[in-house]
Amino acid sequence: MATRTIGIGLLGAGVVGGGVARTIFEKGKSLLYASGASIELRNVLVRDLHKSRGIDSLSDLLTTNPQDVLENPEVDVVVEVLGGQVPAKDYIFQAISNGKHVVTANKDVMAKYGPEILEAAHAKQVRVLFEATVAGGTPIIAPLQRDLSANEVIAVNGIINGTTNYILTRMARDGIDFLDALAEAQGLGYAEPDPTNDVEGIDATYKLAILASVAFQTPVFDSNVYCEGITKLTSRDFVYAAELGYTIKLIAVARKDVEGIQARVHPAFISSDTMIAKVDGVLNAIEIETDLAGRVLFHGQGAGAMPTTSSILADVIDCSRGILDGKDSSSIGFLRRNTQIRPIMDLETKYYIRMNVVERPGVLAEITRVLGDLEISIASVIQKEVDFTTLQAEIVLISNRAKESAIQQAITELAELEAVAEIGTMVRVED
Ligand SMILES: NC(=O)c1ccc[n+]([C@@H]2O[C@H](COP(=O)([O-])OP(=O)(O)OC[C@H]3O[C@@H](n4cnc5c(N)ncnc54)[C@H](OP(=O)(O)O)[C@@H]3O)[C@@H](O)[C@H]2O)c1
Repeated sequence: MATRTIGIGLLGAGVVGGGVARTIFEKGKSLLYASGASIELRNVLVRDLHKSRGIDSLSDLLTTNPQDVLENPEVDVVVEVLGGQVPAKDYIFQAISNGKHVVTANKDVMAKYGPEILEAAHAKQVRVLFEATVAGGTPIIAPLQRDLSANEVIAVNGIINGTTNYILTRMARDGIDFLDALAEAQGLGYAEPDPTNDVEGIDATYKLAILASVAFQTPVFDSNVYCEGITKLTSRDFVYAAELGYTIKLIAVARKDVEGIQARVHPAFISSDTMIAKVDGVLNAIEIETDLAGRVLFHGQGAGAMPTTSSILADVIDCSRGILDGKDSSSIGFLRRNTQIRPIMDLETKYYIRMNVVERPGVLAEITRVLGDLEISIASVIQKEVDFTTLQAEIVLISNRAKESAIQQAITELAELEAVAEIGTMVRVED
């Protein structure tokens, strides 16, 4: 029997696209065994035809005209690895309307337009697969959609930004400051020259929106996710965290209860003996809490050309198998429910607050009165030595469980006390 050929149109041949192209050329036979079809690259869209890409067989396929990919009748699956929203979003919609299946690594687009894109795909009976949008080479979308599909997901909880995890690991282990750790990450290629999306938590917010949408089968957009980055953390916070038995991580948490879903990305104190606390460097880890399977942990490479290629080609193979089986309709799983999104102010957890206070009797009593009036009780206090030049002392409080709204109000009121010179950092404590 003749082998069916599945034509791939590639939008982008940069870090990830280059990895995808090279792997299709080099692993043709094993992709055939895995998918049952011969997977062949057709046209490849780039900006610059003359850029050196280090892949000989690619040059004849390059084009700067997107229609060579999007309208090519020999393209069955469009792989979008351009990055950014413009023009990637329009190309994805065009590919769908031309009846092509789409595989994308674009978290920005999927976090903002995922439900709309899946709906369009459903209408055209094509598939849109996006494993590579979250945690690079670590499988998480497909396991949620297939292996855990009989479960109710209770929570998704993880470390999904390798850049910030590298920076925080260096700050925790070696006591270096944020800016030094960032410069080092940039030198190693782990952080972009403009690191804003990573260090401000935006990248993790996109990924959590996608993860929560899949996990809870309801549209969750990046604008629904509370987002706070790591730029305010100082080496002092890591010293106190270690003293108290914690480590600091940028966590992404989405939790569902009877009142709705709460999704948040922010630095948190994590007990040092938990699995998530031990995820160091650029690695990612995601723990899924479910009703039937219990807690399941996914751990692995969160980025990089080859790990991301692994996820993209898994989606391509899945699409190809579907085409061969005649089951090439869309998976519209995450649009089935419509769950309420809850604001961060509803959160109830423990809090770490570091502040500088004037060194005189009665200061602690003033602070506890402000907290007590807002029904916040203190679990522990650390007071460090007085600085005799400024006559100030550093105080660190860990609260018992309290409402986020009460803590925010307390911080405003504490900052107004004459005895409080400066509120340093507030970090949520996850138990
Ligand atoms: N890098 C990773 O480790 C990683 C991991 C997971 C997901 N992702 C996602 O994968 C996607 C691609 O990332 P990347 O790191 O591969 O990006 P990249 O290295 O910047 O590559 C982008 C590619 O797209 C082409 N391109 C961009 N805009 C274009 C336009 N308007 N018209 C034609 N071609 C255009 C570029 O062409 P030229 O080469 O001619 O400039 C380049 O080949 C992004 O969505 C990213 O978030 C990346």
